[in-house]
Amino acid sequence: MFDLKIIGTGSFIPETLVTNEMMATIVDTNDEWITSRTGISNRRLSSGEPTWYMGAEAARKALAASGIDALAIDMIVVTTITPDYYTPSTACIIQDELGAKNAFCFDMNAACTGFVYALDMAGRYLSTPGINNILIVASENISKIVDYSDRSTCVLFGDGASAAIVSRAQPGDSSALLSTVLGAEGDGGGFLVSRALDLKHPFVADDKIWPDRFNHTAGHFIGMAGQDVYKFAVRSMSDSIMKAAEKANIGMDELHYIVPHQANSRIVEAAARRMKVDPAILIQRMQDFGNTSSASIPICLDEMIREGKLKRGDKVAISGFGGGLTYGAAIFVY
Ligand code: COA
Repeated sequence: MFDLKIIGTGSFIPETLVTNEMMATIVDTNDEWITSRTGISNRRLSSGEPTWYMGAEAARKALAASGIDALAIDMIVVTTITPDYYTPSTACIIQDELGAKNAFCFDMNAACTGFVYALDMAGRYLSTPGINNILIVASENISKIVDYSDRSTCVLFGDGASAAIVSRAQPGDSSALLSTVLGAEGDGGGFLVSRALDLKHPFVADDKIWPDRFNHTAGHFIGMAGQDVYKFAVRSMSDSIMKAAEKANIGMDELHYIVPHQANSRIVEAAARRMKVDPAILIQRMQDFGNTSSASIPICLDEMIREGKLKRGDKVAISGFGGGLTYGAAIFVY
């Protein structure tokens, strides 16, 4: 257990709204197929904003909600698989945007599980002296790596960013990070691939360059074995949440909400059946936003907090799964 309290959240949802009907004008698909297979009706795509900008806007809102000064932030971690630069990191750019001069900064890639990994990391850093406030930003322009001529992937994803400021809980606070369960299955890495820049320099012949490890042919565009990812997602989501509950020593019926990664409503519903939980506690917002990778969980949390749905003292399980393959769950008291 870690003394961790979420003291402010904020999101940036880009304005460009792309409906299923609009997707049907660019690939051979239709609203009925997309809705019945995924639960997604709309997604928002960047209107041109880079990943750092979306993250910085989300972070500004989180800062305002927290009431702390940017100079009080000790660490900034940005989760993203779609940064604008190899260097500087998105976190360094956001530090500059906020004037958070006292923070150390880095980006972290755990694909769609990024926010769960970052929350675990935050709990551990906060348990050491000298770190009091951590800014976690999840910012994703997945549209940069989506092939809009591939109907099996392009209908799934959306862009967006969300941020949370987490601080050390004080004596008397009910807030805490009760447990985390993180994992990875690198042997499934080939099920979800997007390639980075190729090796190429003046002192290597083209025929010496190794073939792609995953036989990936779509370059930086996402290639996905949909059914393999689906099975992994259902298994890892349900297993990790149940393990996290066991670790926290609480029953599944004590959870007020489960906020899963928003990939596909069928994944969420199949995992719910495996966990035998009341579907009413599952948060599903993929119908409006699509799969925004690591931003999907904090976007939901921010919305729940702003709507007053999530109350202090509520027990929440979050669960991520995705490229890597990575997975993770965390249970916290808000
Ligand atoms: N519109 C219409 N038809 C489509 C389509 C689309 N957007 N995308 C695929 N199809 C077609 C396929 O071409 C295939 O046609 P065929 O039988 O003529 O070859 C048919 O639908 C069935 O394809 P299949 O891949 O078996 O569908 P599915 O039931 O597995 O659903 C996914 C596909 C992608 C929705 C599903 O596998 C899934 O959700 N996987 C997990 C993906 C995910 O969430 N990834 C991110 C994790 S972070």
